[in-house]
Amino acid sequence: ARRYKITVVGAGNVGATCAHWLASKELGDIVLVDIVEGVPQGKALDLAQAAPIEGFDVKLVGTNGYDETRDSDIVIITAGLPRKPGMSRDDLLKTNAEIVSQVVDEAVKRSPNAILIVISNPLDAMCQVALRRSGFPKQRVIGMAGVLDSARMRAFIAEALDVSVENVTAFVLGGHGDTMVPLPRYSTVAGIPITELLPKEKIDQIVKRTANGGAEIVSLLKTGSAYYAPSAAAVEMVESILKDKKKILPCSVYLEGEYGISGLFVGVPVKLGARGIEQIIEINLTAEERIALQKSAAAVQELVKVLGL
Ligand code: APR
Repeated sequence: ARRYKITVVGAGNVGATCAHWLASKELGDIVLVDIVEGVPQGKALDLAQAAPIEGFDVKLVGTNGYDETRDSDIVIITAGLPRKPGMSRDDLLKTNAEIVSQVVDEAVKRSPNAILIVISNPLDAMCQVALRRSGFPKQRVIGMAGVLDSARMRAFIAEALDVSVENVTAFVLGGHGDTMVPLPRYSTVAGIPITELLPKEKIDQIVKRTANGGAEIVSLLKTGSAYYAPSAAAVEMVESILKDKKKILPCSVYLEGEYGISGLFVGVPVKLGARGIEQIIEINLTAEERIALQKSAAAVQELVKVLGL
């Protein structure tokens, strides 16, 4: 059996850290692509030299072109500008749409059967760009957002209850923005809904901090945005696909009627396996939750409209 091949476009903070987690989990050979000369090459070489210490056997290549990406199983797109303090993800819209379009054109030409995982922001709109430009079936264009947002919520819940992060699941639906919809009802500790374990005020505080999770880090870093958790989240998705684990994970996917939403990428729980998105799972929402999700979808729609998609 041959090794899997994973291309990561954008060798900045998120892209390089994706390569790091991918290598340490030995998920496949890795091609790191960036427009800046020397950076993908240097980071690939540096990471390859960690292999003897960490004990991973994967090939790492850095490049400014796409020929090395040929026949990738997965292409992770992190190219684009990150946020600066005071910026929302939406402020990146037009610049990143151009970058993502160009990346998709080049990547899908060489890897027509790949699964695309999009990380560039504003996430849901960038997924729409990737779907249109690639012409891929919707099962093979997936946005990384919900795994990150729910990981943030899980970290806050585990901290509040002083329990293992492994015991905590959390559910976050909707677009990857201020209108995301964390669902405490479906967030549990060892199967127990957090609504039974934490007072309402604490839960409200966690929900708010989750929705603001990216901005909290931007305001601390000042020169960029989060990358350890975003890249770990993308790599969990990669692992579920390449190992055909069929994990249920919240991802941004193209909806065609599910949750009453059509023609838009929005975060919902899906099953990720060898074929990409193998199932979209529809859970029952309360009227209030449904309204929050619609509002979140409307925010995504606005951006998509600006791009004329
Ligand atoms: N092709 C390839 N790489 C590109 C292109 C392009 N057309 N345009 C920009 N890049 C590269 C930059 O050279 C840079 O190395 O993308 C990289 C982005 O890295 P960072 O600036 O460190 O940004 P990062 O924190 O990794 O965030 C990347 O992910 O989470 C999102 O909002 C974030 O949209 C941003 C993206």
